[in-house]
Amino acid sequence: MNRLSEQAGNVTKETAIQGGVELNLTNCFARITAYNATTLRVRVSKTAFSSDHSFAIDNLNASGKLQVAKQEGTDKIYQTDSLIVKVKTHPFRVSVYNRNNELLCADESDLGVSWFGNQVSCYKQLHADEKFLGLGEKTGNINRRGSFYQNWNSDVPAYASNADPLYATIPFFIGIHDSVTYGIFFDNTHKSYFNFGGGADEELFHFGADDGEMNYYVFGGSTVAKIIKDYTNLTGRTPMPPLWSLGFQQSRWGYDNQEQLLSIAKTFREKKLPADVIVSDINYMDNYKVFTWSNKYPDVKGMLVQMKQLGFDIVTIIDPGIKVEKGYKAYEDGLIGNHFAKYPSGKPYIGHVWPGRCHFPDFTKESTRLWWGANFKQPYIDNGVKGFWNDMNEPAAWGREFPNLIEFGEGKERQTLFSVKNAYGLLMAKATYEGTKLGMNGHRPFVLTRASYSGIQKYSAQWTGDNASTDDHMLLGFRLLNSMGLSGIPYIGMDIGGFIGNPSPELFVRWLSLGVYTPLFRNHTCINYNYREPWLFGESNTIKIKAILEHRYQLLPHLYSAFYQAHKTGLPINRMLPIDYTFDDNAYDPKYQHQFLFGDGMMVCPVASSQSITEVYLPGTTDWYRLSNDKVYAGGSNYFVESPLEDVPVFVKSGAIVPMQSIVQNTKETGDGILYLHVYKGSLQNSYTYYEDDGETYNYEKAVFYKRLIVYNPLKGIVTLKAKEGSYSSKFQKIKLVLHGFDKKEIVSQDLFDSEMNIKL
Ligand code: GLC
Repeated sequence: MNRLSEQAGNVTKETAIQGGVELNLTNCFARITAYNATTLRVRVSKTAFSSDHSFAIDNLNASGKLQVAKQEGTDKIYQTDSLIVKVKTHPFRVSVYNRNNELLCADESDLGVSWFGNQVSCYKQLHADEKFLGLGEKTGNINRRGSFYQNWNSDVPAYASNADPLYATIPFFIGIHDSVTYGIFFDNTHKSYFNFGGGADEELFHFGADDGEMNYYVFGGSTVAKIIKDYTNLTGRTPMPPLWSLGFQQSRWGYDNQEQLLSIAKTFREKKLPADVIVSDINYMDNYKVFTWSNKYPDVKGMLVQMKQLGFDIVTIIDPGIKVEKGYKAYEDGLIGNHFAKYPSGKPYIGHVWPGRCHFPDFTKESTRLWWGANFKQPYIDNGVKGFWNDMNEPAAWGREFPNLIEFGEGKERQTLFSVKNAYGLLMAKATYEGTKLGMNGHRPFVLTRASYSGIQKYSAQWTGDNASTDDHMLLGFRLLNSMGLSGIPYIGMDIGGFIGNPSPELFVRWLSLGVYTPLFRNHTCINYNYREPWLFGESNTIKIKAILEHRYQLLPHLYSAFYQAHKTGLPINRMLPIDYTFDDNAYDPKYQHQFLFGDGMMVCPVASSQSITEVYLPGTTDWYRLSNDKVYAGGSNYFVESPLEDVPVFVKSGAIVPMQSIVQNTKETGDGILYLHVYKGSLQNSYTYYEDDGETYNYEKAVFYKRLIVYNPLKGIVTLKAKEGSYSSKFQKIKLVLHGFDKKEIVSQDLFDSEMNIKL
């Protein structure tokens, strides 16, 4: 019987190409190539391969080796040093095994790669115990099994806590079954779909897109961490962020003049509430025109100088919509330079956003990205602004949807919104990051984005958009962050307190105390709701808030070291339990899915504001210490623990090393010059990579950093600081060990030397 859809047919020809093979099929073309021993790429296309393109990956050269191993009947077997690829040729179906011959993933035998019109999908076998993680910013359980998701970057104010899609597209997931793990990245920016066994039978799952190639990478690393490493090896890793951006960020839509910004900064200092950043939302602009300041900011430079004296940095919002207005420079230059997305007739597209009628930059073009990036110099960088917040870049306009036929690019590169929409936010962030980096003379810009696509981590931090002031949204936020971290994006956060609504004082305090453990630590609220500066919740709460902010600043050495790990390996800072405890079923239990490790060794258990007793799960076989009181809990068990407002449940793994510093009011302060090394007694040897650099330039790329391996040897009762690597001098002159679970409480501070130091416990 004729089918109404089409499936990939039989292989008729095999040709060796760089990194692998090209196969001609009766009705399409396929390529299988290797990028390294654990990274394969599979492409299937109805048309011959003439060009190759990715918004996410800078280097598409398949530099790995895929060797022909043997032929089994009509099947072809290829291999890398770590993986085996079996290709059934009648019809074409691909399966990937590890070198122990354990199946990682396989095309479903009947459907394989299928087309329905232009829609292309890949159907794979579903394993009975299979779990799925990933897809970045997605609601639902962290285990995606049984769910269906779409990617179509959307502006979704006050989204429901089960809404889909949200603002971002990260078509990368990890499958776990039997005793194996694998990852898949489907690099296609059309509207895409992932169905992890939801609404289908229990034998298959599938992913696909409305158009374009079936173009996916398989990661066959044997651990979740290795898969994240390979995925970020392809799509890139975070640069080191400016240290100031990791301080507390105070934001509100509605701050609208110079005096107000300064007075907020001053109040933080008067009340001794540590903070680093004041964020300026759309009101700073003249009629919402990007690259301008309203006359309510008569002396921007002077304001920035005063901010600097107060130890504050400024972040300004920049939306993509450029107001259609004669005489407005960005508009006129954009027209002359041919920088706007167009209707098929060639006329620039117009959509309505904050400034009214707007054109939208065509960020797919390098010339436009350069033009965009250069615009930051005069209004922002020259005045001392170092942080840039990209919003509304789904792209959004009132009424939500742009027509799909809007055109981008020129000549052979011409595309429509249909394939560009999901990448628009990424390209805007790229233009902003690269332009401001260039303009800042070797200093690191801070970029924050709402929309994103895979690879965003190279340019920007990402936050979870317009959430609501409820416990439900706070907890959802931690599921989103857990998933975004796993999906390659380490610099993440959410609007603390919720963007829409007025949090109760309890909810605000709880959210803030959990926000300590999110890389982006930003309080932000919508113009229609109450002011939410931290001193507005009553005296007793201000005391709690002060302690929370101080704790964040004490933890910065640990957070910064975790960033270095993310920069080098792609491992996130917020690590959902399955990263370290992949084959422990409890790690996927919805009861514990908000929990995460914050860097090495620290476990945070998010809990609703009203809940004073919380069930937590402490995995593994070693003990855990409660951070606040050093009470010890055996690993591998669940516990009901107290969770009063001032003591969110945080645990530290036995054997852990956690570097901290004294309380400072902002990241520019040096504090007491002592590095406090917290050591938690354990029975197994453990090590920690401690990392510092100047926090503001790219000199770390030339080894101007201070890095040292710290080893805790319980048998010998010694902590060893290996000799420092890199040419930077630590900002600390002394080191003090703070001991947990030992007879002694501390080891008095001693001078910090660059050569190897052994400290007896
Ligand atoms: C969008 C952003 C929000 C911002 C507002 C005004 O809703 O998501 O954070 O405050 O626009 O710029």
